Amino acid sequence: MDFKGKTVIVTGSSRGIGKAIAEAFAAKGATICILDLMEEGVNSILSEFTEKGYNCLGFVGNVTDSEKISEIFKEIYQKTGSIDVLVNNAGITKDKLILKMKEADWDAVLDVNLKGTFICIQKASRYMMKQPGSSIINLASVIGLIGNTGQANYAASKAGIIGLTKSVAKEFAAREMRCNAIAPGFIRTEMTENLPPEVVSSYAEAIPLKRMGTPQDIADLCLFLASDMSSYITGQVINVDGGLVMQ
Ligand SMILES: NC(=O)c1ccc[n+]([C@@H]2O[C@H](COP(=O)([O-])OP(=O)(O)OC[C@H]3O[C@@H](n4cnc5c(N)ncnc54)[C@H](O)[C@@H]3O)[C@@H](O)[C@H]2O)c1
Repeated sequence: MDFKGKTVIVTGSSRGIGKAIAEAFAAKGATICILDLMEEGVNSILSEFTEKGYNCLGFVGNVTDSEKISEIFKEIYQKTGSIDVLVNNAGITKDKLILKMKEADWDAVLDVNLKGTFICIQKASRYMMKQPGSSIINLASVIGLIGNTGQANYAASKAGIIGLTKSVAKEFAAREMRCNAIAPGFIRTEMTENLPPEVVSSYAEAIPLKRMGTPQDIADLCLFLASDMSSYITGQVINVDGGLVMQ
């Protein structure tokens, strides 16, 4: 797979799964656009990637800020001449049992995970429509398929991403623009590193492949979903979970 001459935006890419996705595309020759809330994270990835000889641009922005996202995507298009791939990876959790969940916890998770994904799709698609073969990849979660105690807000946001993905796939298919979702299971990142060891081992026990996933497992699927090798695949949700959820 070769992404030379392609511009790829990955949101929430200063660490974890987003960083691994960004690096996978950069290593295949793409111009990679890092977009994250954390300025320090963006700067450190930019210097790391530049040292490795990758083509990269960095932007500090919040995916819920539609005006800022609009400005950033315009700048990317003006600098690179195209937006070929958008990976909506930025996401947060604010776990609480429903009876204890504050409305603010609900709103924050729905805003970043679901509305942020909508905003980025809306702002990027005006450029991506001009590129037949362009691809949008949304990070959902197996929790959006099966629910989870203490994660009503997160599960609802990720289930929403699945509906959004299918609608975008239908709306833009005539423009040869595809949209798919990835539903990771338990992946080792900063988001999951605070789980107690007994919880991690009980999850690992329940996973048929008997291990947590790695960010690279997700990045590999992103490369496939952004490439011509998947040109007949759109509107799908693909689990990357070691067999945890089989439908
Ligand atoms: N780690 C897992 O096990 C797992 C499982 C299923 C799904 N996911 C999903 O994969 C994605 C990445 O997860 P991760 O584990 O790497 O998370 P992470 O917390 O390690 O990284 C998330 C990144 O998103 C950025 N971010 C958060 N809010 C933002 C905003 N409003 N605007 C811009 N950037 C923002 C953060 O600064 C951070 O760099 C998330 O959407 C998550 O829900 C992760």
